[in-house]
Amino acid sequence: MPSARAKDKARGFPSHLTINKERLLADLNAISRIGIGDRGSVTRLVFSVTELRSRQLLVHLMTQAGLKVQVDRIGNIFGRLEGGGGPAVLAGSHLDSVVHGGKFDGPVGVIGALEAVRTIKESAIALPCPLEAVCFVGEESSRFGFSTLGSSLVAGQVRMKDLTNAVDARGTKLEDVLAGLGVYRDSLPSLRRDPKSVRAYLELHIEQGPVLEAKKKKIGVVTAIAAPTRLRVVFTGQADHSGTTPMEMRKDALVAAALLIAHVEETARENSAVEKGRVVGTVGAIKIDPGVINAIPGKAELSIDIRSITAKAKERVARAVEARAKEIAADRGMKVEILPIRSEEPVDLDAGLIRLIEEICEEKKLPYEIMPSGAGHDAMQMAKIAPAGMIFVPSKKGISHSPLEWTDPDEICLGAQILLETIVRIAYEAS
Ligand code: GLV
Ligand code: MN
Ligand code: MN
Repeated sequence: MPSARAKDKARGFPSHLTINKERLLADLNAISRIGIGDRGSVTRLVFSVTELRSRQLLVHLMTQAGLKVQVDRIGNIFGRLEGGGGPAVLAGSHLDSVVHGGKFDGPVGVIGALEAVRTIKESAIALPCPLEAVCFVGEESSRFGFSTLGSSLVAGQVRMKDLTNAVDARGTKLEDVLAGLGVYRDSLPSLRRDPKSVRAYLELHIEQGPVLEAKKKKIGVVTAIAAPTRLRVVFTGQADHSGTTPMEMRKDALVAAALLIAHVEETARENSAVEKGRVVGTVGAIKIDPGVINAIPGKAELSIDIRSITAKAKERVARAVEARAKEIAADRGMKVEILPIRSEEPVDLDAGLIRLIEEICEEKKLPYEIMPSGAGHDAMQMAKIAPAGMIFVPSKKGISHSPLEWTDPDEICLGAQILLETIVRIAYEAS
C-alpha cells in the first residue's frame, strides 16, 4: 500500500503542511481572556462590548497573518487568502458565547480556520483557489433567542419579520440593534453571499456531547445537524397580595408556567427515543413580574427550545406544547400569548465531504465516529448555499455551555490539522 503522503504526492496535493500548535493555542487563549469570569467561565453575548473586542482581536490576527480582511455590515468577518480562481473554500465558526460558557464553543473553529489558512499562506504552495477564514456574528441564541444570525444572513435565510419576537432580557429588540448597525429590510440582500462564490464550507467544533470520549474516538465526522424550534410563551394572570388573596381567587401566572415547564419535559421524554426523532425540550429562561416574595406573580414569560433531527417530530412536540399552554390558560382564566421566535429545518451535511474527512482519518489511522450533531451550528445555514462539512473534537465528560467545558489541547490541534488537510484537498481536487 502506498503511504497517504505518497498518494497525495501522486495526486499533486501538498501533504507536508503542519499547523503551528503553539500559535493556535496562544491565540485561542487570547480570545478566551476576553469576557473571562468566575471559575474560568466566558461570557461574550452577541453585540456586547466583550464580543466586539473578541472580533477586533480576530481582525488584528487576520491582518497580521497577511489575509485580506472584510467585515460586512452586521460584523461577520472574512479573512481571505487569494489563490487560483473560482469559488473559495470557507472555514469558520463564531466567537460569541452563552452566559458563563466555556472557552472553546466557537473559537476552536474560528482560530482553527485562521491557523489552517495562515499555515497554507506561509507554505507558499500554489493555491488552486481562494480560501477564507470566517467568523459569524451571533451563533448563540442566548441573548435574543435567535441563533446563527450572521450565517443565516449570509445564506439569505432571514426576513425582517422573522426577527419580530427576538427580544433580549432587558427588552432590547434585535431589529433595533440591527437598525443601529444600518441593517434594514432593504439591506438584507447585500449581506447575502453569492452561492457561486463558495466552493465548500467547513466547521471545526467541539462535540459538546459525550460520545467521542465514551467511545475513545479522536474525531467526529458530522452527518446531520438537529435544528431548534423556539417559542416564548407569556402567561398573564393577576398580580396581587400574597397574604390577602384567597387561594381560590388567584390567577398565578407562575403556577401556570410551572405546569407548562413540566409538560415540556414530559412530552419531550415521550419523544426522546431515536425512532421517535430523538426530541429534546428545554425551558432555559423564565421572567416573572413582579418577582417579589409577597406578591402573586401576574406575568410569567418562558423561553422554550425544542430540537430534533427530524422536522416532523419537533413540530409534533411544539404543537403539543402550544396546545397545553392554551389549555392551562383556559383552565385558570388567564391570557396566554405564544410568540414563535424561529423554527429551523434539520440539515444533512454533504456526503462527499463526509467521505473526504473519513478518508483523511483512515489514512492517518485515527479512530473516528460518524455522528449527528445535537447542537446547532453555522454549518446548518451554510449548508443551504454550499456543500458543508463538520469536524468534531471530543468534549470532556460531554459538558458544554458551562465553565466546565474542556477539550484536550492536543485534540484541538489534531482537529485543526484535519481541517487544514480537508481544506487543501478540496482546493486541489476542484482544481
Ligand atoms: C448552540 O450552541 C446551540 O444552542 O445549539
Ligand atoms: Mn454554543
Ligand atoms: Mn458553537
